[in-house]
Amino acid sequence: MVNDLAQILVASNRGPVSYTTTGAGELEARRGGGGLVSGLSAIDSGEQSLWVCAALGDGDREAVRRGVGEPGVRMLDIDPAVHSAAYNGIANSVLWFVHHMLYQTPLEPVFDQEFRSQWDSYRAYNRAFAEALAEAAAPEAAVLVQDYHLALTPGMLRELRPDLRIGHFSHTPWAPPEYFGLLPDDIAGELLRGMLGADRLGFLTERWADAFTDCCDRVVGGTGRTETGVHGLGADADFLRERAHRPDVGTRLAELREAVGPDRRTVVRVDRTELSKNIVRGLLAYRELLETRPEWRERVVHIALAYPSRQDLAVYRDYTAEVSRLAAEINDTYGTPGWTPVVVHVKDDFARSLAAYRMADVALVNPIRDGMNLVAKEVPVVSDAGCALVLSREAGAHAELGEFAITVNPYDVTATADALHRALTMPPAERADRTKHLAAAATALPPRRWFLDQLEALRSL
Ligand code: G6P
Repeated sequence: MVNDLAQILVASNRGPVSYTTTGAGELEARRGGGGLVSGLSAIDSGEQSLWVCAALGDGDREAVRRGVGEPGVRMLDIDPAVHSAAYNGIANSVLWFVHHMLYQTPLEPVFDQEFRSQWDSYRAYNRAFAEALAEAAAPEAAVLVQDYHLALTPGMLRELRPDLRIGHFSHTPWAPPEYFGLLPDDIAGELLRGMLGADRLGFLTERWADAFTDCCDRVVGGTGRTETGVHGLGADADFLRERAHRPDVGTRLAELREAVGPDRRTVVRVDRTELSKNIVRGLLAYRELLETRPEWRERVVHIALAYPSRQDLAVYRDYTAEVSRLAAEINDTYGTPGWTPVVVHVKDDFARSLAAYRMADVALVNPIRDGMNLVAKEVPVVSDAGCALVLSREAGAHAELGEFAITVNPYDVTATADALHRALTMPPAERADRTKHLAAAATALPPRRWFLDQLEALRSL
């Protein structure tokens, strides 16, 4: 049935929709946003597209079993043990740690038999995607494979379907060769060769693309026939501005204003609670601000929206606990009856994130390393009165926004405290001017453009 084959395919671990089963046994669908969703919405309606993703929980698996789904989405029901070893074991415990340089190297990493067996699962998981894509793709279709979960899929797919145009996009940083070299040599080679099975590899910044090329030079003697390209993903201004003024955001705004209290400045951060985001050092910097500049006590509130992520893994759970512990300690030490220095929310709530963006005087974005960081781009677009951005030089977004932000070394807590002070005391005219430039730079490459550019580049090879 040639007509059912897709001309444009996207593959990613997490898909655009997820299912939960209600008490009554009904399936409830939840649709996500993000760059790929708006990107796909921009393609010509005459072209058939398919998004291949993994079933991630019991609800998703039940949906697959019942044959429930969205048009244009195919969920793969991969054996839960295989998926867990690939996703938790390799993707989020090894590859995420390598690319974000998160290991505490005296004790980690340890590449032993357990790792090797997880790597077998990672291969099987990548192969499941390659097979599904090979089956569903029209002749010479364009396939856009996403991220470190699926580094081997391009090579596997190329073997099955040499006619396809295969792209791969990395949403993370890429490790420099000295750090990438922590991986066992055979695995490092397999990983790079897997990616080089693509015709074209996309990265968020020059820095990550260069690091990838350096790794290839060192490990496999170059990138061969594969092209690399840089596509910096920007914020979706129209969507954000409209969404940020809906009634549910208004409700959240009122709640947050109540928690902050009158006539106080706000320092806002919004992250998945995840080790690369550096939330703990952000709190230490805020504590140092209150300690060394007591004039800020009672006059500022830190709104920290820290949404738990990857809680199957102890290291992420421990980090989440440390964030809560430290926030509580700061509140115990400095709080007064009418003033809570840190307001923390951990329940993922997009309307609340937008409300926090709107009331931000200062946005704190201080990751250890980050592929891009869209929060840095979204806050200036949405903030009601303009906001100063304190931005890590290790975030991909720094390449585009650094000129108008206050730059910090993410490890330097004292410098971050100083940067917060500077941001809080920035004259209103300067703040307004910087916000204008930040918003312009942040929206220069909207998600639709980002997606279509990649598609066009892949097809014109
Ligand atoms: C990063 C990755 C994405 C991933 C997201 C959320 O941005 O690059 O591929 O979807 O984190 O992580 P999760 O593990 O919850 O999918």
